[in-house]
Amino acid sequence: MLQKINELKSRIEGLTAASAADVEALRIQYLSKKGEVSLLFNDFRNVPADQKRAMGQALNELKNFATDKINSLREAVETTDTIDADLDLTRTSSPTPLGSRHPLSVVRDEIISIFSRLGFNVAEGPEIEDDWHVFSSLNFAADHPARDMQDTFFIQRNPDVLLRTHTSSVQSRVMEKTQPPIRIICPGRVYRNEAISARAHCFFHQVEALYVDRNVSFADLKQTLLYFAREMFSPETKIRLRPSYFPFTEPSAEMDISCNLCGGKGCSFCKGTGWVEILGCGMVDPNVLDACGIDSKEYTGFALGMGVERITNLKYQVKDLRMFSENDRRFLEEFTSAR
Ligand code: DAH
Repeated sequence: MLQKINELKSRIEGLTAASAADVEALRIQYLSKKGEVSLLFNDFRNVPADQKRAMGQALNELKNFATDKINSLREAVETTDTIDADLDLTRTSSPTPLGSRHPLSVVRDEIISIFSRLGFNVAEGPEIEDDWHVFSSLNFAADHPARDMQDTFFIQRNPDVLLRTHTSSVQSRVMEKTQPPIRIICPGRVYRNEAISARAHCFFHQVEALYVDRNVSFADLKQTLLYFAREMFSPETKIRLRPSYFPFTEPSAEMDISCNLCGGKGCSFCKGTGWVEILGCGMVDPNVLDACGIDSKEYTGFALGMGVERITNLKYQVKDLRMFSENDRRFLEEFTSAR
């Protein structure tokens, strides 16, 4: 019997298992009621009385040895099993969210890029301005009713420190410092004292363009506008100019484009007219040229100004202006694929 015990012990010592199922099979083979170790206990009955004590001890040792061995095999496969479950070397790493460009930046850059193809350079000016650059140099008389067109934020009750209401202020800053030819595009944020709603905000963005040189004509303006509209929207886009009034241009006009949602047939966006207004423009008033130190007898120019939010709405149908400044990621993520 001792020989059997030793033989079984060395067999158990060499056992290996690759999975939990293997371990269970070994447990059944050796330790279950009819397992090899248990069967040896049945033979114990036949052991002569004087050997019972030593044999009993050897049998118990064998049983403990087998139990320990099976337990350690089980532990080993359990740890490898959990590592296997977690470790998938073929899995791609979790992507880092990249964010997206703000729709107003995307559209502003597109406007800049279209005008830069016509030779316009970007010029910038301060958002905190003075009366001269925002109003007086641009031919707004002190008591001119046109000042009421723009609800201005004044700073510290000082009428000469204010937030610019339009980027036309950059025109006068550039003209004061530079002689023609001038061909600039001025993007920037502007402020107006307005109640915030879906259709109005106290700050928004504009892009202004100015071209001053000898013999700049209204025809140059019109062709520039047509090129811009077709590049920005589609080659089929039509434009129309309506007479308007701005203090700094004479004559002045507002430009409509054929509604890019219905193609000019008439829809709720264009209120059934087939046209949508997108910008103001005109020939620079000679008073403005003179106020900024440019000889209006020698030079002429055109200017135009547009709202970036307005153009963005036309391209992407954003219904509520407040979306642009709320930083709601669900809104911003819609522009992940925009250029
Ligand atoms: N500054 C005008 C506004 O804020 C927009 C504008 C109109 C700019 C006509 C121009 C222009 O340069 O010629 O409403």
